[in-house]
Amino acid sequence: PNLDEMLNLFDFEAVASQTLTKEAWAYFSSGADDEVTLRENHEAFRRIWLKPRVLIDVAKIDVSTTILGHYSSFPLYITATALGKLGHPEGEVVLTRAAYTHKIIQMIPTLASCSLDEMINARGEGQVQFYQLYVNPDRSITERVVRAAEAKGCKALFITVDAPQLGRREKDMREKYVEAPPDLQEEGDIRRDQGAARAINGFIDPRLKWADLKWFRSITSMPLVLKGIQTVEDAVIAAKFGVEGIVLSNHGGRQLDFARSAIEILPEVVEALKREGLYDKIEIYVDGGIRRGTDIFKAIALGAKAVGIGRPMLYAMSAYGQPGVERALQLLKDELEVAMSLSGVTSISECGPQYLDIRNLYNH
Ligand code: FNR
Repeated sequence: PNLDEMLNLFDFEAVASQTLTKEAWAYFSSGADDEVTLRENHEAFRRIWLKPRVLIDVAKIDVSTTILGHYSSFPLYITATALGKLGHPEGEVVLTRAAYTHKIIQMIPTLASCSLDEMINARGEGQVQFYQLYVNPDRSITERVVRAAEAKGCKALFITVDAPQLGRREKDMREKYVEAPPDLQEEGDIRRDQGAARAINGFIDPRLKWADLKWFRSITSMPLVLKGIQTVEDAVIAAKFGVEGIVLSNHGGRQLDFARSAIEILPEVVEALKREGLYDKIEIYVDGGIRRGTDIFKAIALGAKAVGIGRPMLYAMSAYGQPGVERALQLLKDELEVAMSLSGVTSISECGPQYLDIRNLYNH
């Protein structure tokens, strides 16, 4: 189908499922074990209902916001997803360019199939990128990577904490992985016989612990964000430590099956951080299952500063390249504007829990 026939993000997924190689589809789409968390990530949004207000002047809607102080045309960033070249020959730079068109932030993955330099060089004027870090068992490699990211202008360090090892993604495990990303080829031994996820397992340190966070402060002045917080308890520890942000995330359902969805945890986390007087000290992001403008609206209304989006970007990129990603982002932004206008909300700062009915969120 033509790009202009794509009317929502599910349309891109349907096309990608038909056009991607079996190997790429398996790696992108898979979740851990029975994929219960994978499905729940989007399903959870469907248990939140909206309470639209009427007779409010909504002729002008402003969906712009800031993330860690950086402008974003709407409260969404492209999150880190590894191995983009499985879906498109140019890989992650396609996402860089589309992010620039829309003035949103891209998070660069440690395990991108493009090199760091390629993604930095693809940057438009004034474009902001964050860096997602997998902590290597060899900390000198990690230090080098972090310093390079900072030197090359990345504006925040998102340390992935939900992956001391990679989850079992059976769809992916059934495929044989052949190509390694360039940065990994240099780092040594890649196992090519166990699916893409298994192939990158050796690059992640299972010994990473809370006490190590101080070390990151000593090697970088980038703001620190922990990506993959999944409980109130850990959100509070993170905020007490003083990181600048947390991403409530279960890694798109790819790690621990039966981990709860980020959107379901969000209200509890906001409440606990408010109780501890920490809510104003930290930005909270959520990712997982964001597919509609109303999903973004719900997350923001519950207290998230922004949401991350993963697979839909890969699907749009794989099927239609940069124009596809740009259209997917435009559709989401348009949907968010409609959701706000029909809810009687004209700016992101006005968006709050009074516009939601979450009674069913915990009732399923
Ligand atoms: C990911 N994710 C991820 N996260 C991370 O911190 N480092 C990584 O290298 C990757 N790689 C990766 C590859 C693929 C193919 C997917 C689908 C996901 C997780 C990602 O950042 C994010 O948490 C989820 O993708 C969000 O869920 P949705 O938007 O895909 O539903």
